[in-house]
Amino acid sequence: MYFDSHAHLGEDCFAQDFVHIVENMRTAGVSGMMEIGFDGPSSYHAVELANRYDWIWAAVGSHPDDAAQVDEARIEEYRALCEDPRVKAIGEIGLDYHYEDPPRDVQQRAFRMQMELAQKLSLPVVIHEREAHEDGLRIISDFPDVTGVFHCFSGSPEMAQELLKLGWYLGFDGPVTYKNARRAPEVAAVTPLDRMLIETDSPYMTPVPYRGKRNDSGYVRLVAEKLAEWKGVAPEEMARLTTENGKRLFRIS
Ligand code: NI
Repeated sequence: MYFDSHAHLGEDCFAQDFVHIVENMRTAGVSGMMEIGFDGPSSYHAVELANRYDWIWAAVGSHPDDAAQVDEARIEEYRALCEDPRVKAIGEIGLDYHYEDPPRDVQQRAFRMQMELAQKLSLPVVIHEREAHEDGLRIISDFPDVTGVFHCFSGSPEMAQELLKLGWYLGFDGPVTYKNARRAPEVAAVTPLDRMLIETDSPYMTPVPYRGKRNDSGYVRLVAEKLAEWKGVAPEEMARLTTENGKRLFRIS
């Protein structure tokens, strides 16, 4: 059984065949999934989905792309959504300096406001951090009581070790199956088995051999298999461990 710790099934590309896709995931052995919000509407949708399926849980929050929309009113909306017991995390939140749109200061402000909310509510966070390693580390270190997962982790093995020391989990997804994956095996090598999460980031990041097609949680098996190979454990063992890790981090019983 697999636990997909990061998916966006609310995206429009799933609207047509949603019921079919969800059935396929179950057939593929997915026993748990986190539906991750990235703005206001997707956060509401995540909560709705988590209330419809007993094996789906929700995270609510604004991705750095949506940072300009994060104000006190939006934080209050997220706080209210977190009263629903199906909400297990704040996310995805963070920094993305690849396009710098919105600008860095706007992203940092939204990130801090949402870290503060997580601290107040004692919830874990799902972090999106791209090309902003230094500022990312600086901001999380201002919230020592908050941990969570760096989703689709793209930092160095050294940064991974620093995060692991602070109690964080690291998320691995489709790119681990790509031929040119260089950093991911090095990061996996320093990450203990009890701190790894597998994720699809559906509909994005589709693993080989389906690269280029729409991703869904059914493909999370391919990520688990690659990690199992790198860590020298059986694929079933990797599936079991990452499921345990996901449930522990998101406090799912
Ligand atoms: Ni995502």
